[in-house]
Amino acid sequence: MFDPIVSKANPNAQVHFTFDGESIYTAPNTSVAAALLAAGHTWFRQMPVSGQQRGPFCMMGACFDCLVEIDGITVQACVTTVTEGLNVTCVSQMHLQEGKFK
Ligand code: FES
Repeated sequence: MFDPIVSKANPNAQVHFTFDGESIYTAPNTSVAAALLAAGHTWFRQMPVSGQQRGPFCMMGACFDCLVEIDGITVQACVTTVTEGLNVTCVSQMHLQEGKFK
């Protein structure tokens, strides 16, 4: 339906990051949420009580369903740009309870 945004200056440019240890390559200036969705990941965390899987919904920073951990800090994947070497993981409920949210 949509074509990915590719750098016109260098259409082969890619940025590498990991999600729970899986290597993922994406175009520069892509949000973490868009890159994960493009790689086939539809959920990034689970509800603490029900265990229900949660994934990006609004893609504009309003719903908070896209939370992930980057370097031990919980962030919204849809408003975070991928940079080379990011280590992204599913959000742990312990961090949410400890208030480690950026
Ligand atoms: S998808 Fe809604 S805040 Fe990120």
